[in-house]
Amino acid sequence: MSLPFISKNDLVVGVDIGSHAVKICQLKQTGGGYSIVALGSATLPEGAVDDGTLNDPEIVGEVVSELFTNLKLKNKNVGFSISGYSVIVKKVNLAAMADAQLEEHIMEEAEQYIPFDIEDVYLDFQDLKTNTDGGERTDVMLVAAKKEIVDDYLEMMRGLNLKPVIVDVDGFALENTYEYNYQKTENVALIDIGASKMNINILANGISVVARDIIVGSRQLTEQIQNTFDIDFEEAEGLKLGHIAAEDKQQEIAKIFTTTCTQWVLEIKKAIDLYHANHPDQPLTKLVLSGGGAKVTGLLDFLEKETELTVELFNPFLKLKSKKKKIDSDYLSSIAPEMAIATGIALRSSNI
Ligand SMILES: Nc1ncnc2c1ncn2[C@@H]1O[C@H](COP(=O)(O)OP(=O)(O)OP(=O)(O)O)[C@@H](O)[C@H]1O
Ligand SMILES: [Mg+2]
Repeated sequence: MSLPFISKNDLVVGVDIGSHAVKICQLKQTGGGYSIVALGSATLPEGAVDDGTLNDPEIVGEVVSELFTNLKLKNKNVGFSISGYSVIVKKVNLAAMADAQLEEHIMEEAEQYIPFDIEDVYLDFQDLKTNTDGGERTDVMLVAAKKEIVDDYLEMMRGLNLKPVIVDVDGFALENTYEYNYQKTENVALIDIGASKMNINILANGISVVARDIIVGSRQLTEQIQNTFDIDFEEAEGLKLGHIAAEDKQQEIAKIFTTTCTQWVLEIKKAIDLYHANHPDQPLTKLVLSGGGAKVTGLLDFLEKETELTVELFNPFLKLKSKKKKIDSDYLSSIAPEMAIATGIALRSSNI
């Protein structure tokens, strides 16, 4: 049994369902590249999605459906991505063999690599073909996703009369967007800081060598502001984003930002150290940050100082065309960091 990849050449609508917001991206082919047809995001009520699980499929469905209506999307073919505890991505080193043989081997042996009952997961793999020098072993990327979690997404989408044709993984989608827009040969750490998790994906020469999800994110800031001042979530979020003036709360809020961002930076440094220990002759050239949490004021400079590496914001639209009349350029640049995963899914269909 494999993940339900059924894509042909048609472009799908990329749907990224995060714990804070649903992001949607639809592209179309133009000339040799792609252009943006529609983009949008809508926030979800607190708790509707948690650690990649649809706690409230009905509410999430309503938000997705409303976005489709507002963006006037007619395409029913969608791709979505999963993340969190229910998906395991693992690289294993195996004897090089033909694809059919590899599939058989993986189905038989998967249980030793994956901490789930094999009956309970969709399994997929990709031979990374790291044996280009004629070596006898190759790295294979294994992906196992809990059926009950994936099935909830499939059911929710089908309930909206949408046709889910691609199931992606957040980290892979991010990598896909990066590959399309940037130079593949750099050694780079892609770091997506969402509301509840940080995904770190380090690419050496275009190949993912460190991949991890860490349970930290921008919601931490909101919750700490909420607890410190004993206010509700919405007000705390408003204070965090500067939509509500901080006034006498300013100093306390600054302290919360500093403590939390220091924790994020420590996690990032741990991943970088691990990478450098295993790849001493392929130093990282830069860090590329995405997700709403990447927009925390001062974070990029702080990270740059702490890691002594170049840090930049991910621009998933770098090589995508867009009509100025249709999509406001200020909106485009403000939403860019959050849209990296949805864009990666929207690009995926044509790459498979
Ligand atoms: N300028 C900003 N400063 C701090 N946080 C911000 C800023 N802009 C957006 N955010 C936060 O980013 C988060 C939303 O980002 P994003 O859409 O990437 O998360 P998500 O994909 O829904 O979450 P996750 O992937 O963790 O489940 C929210 O917590 C929001 O408050
Ligand atoms: Mg996210």
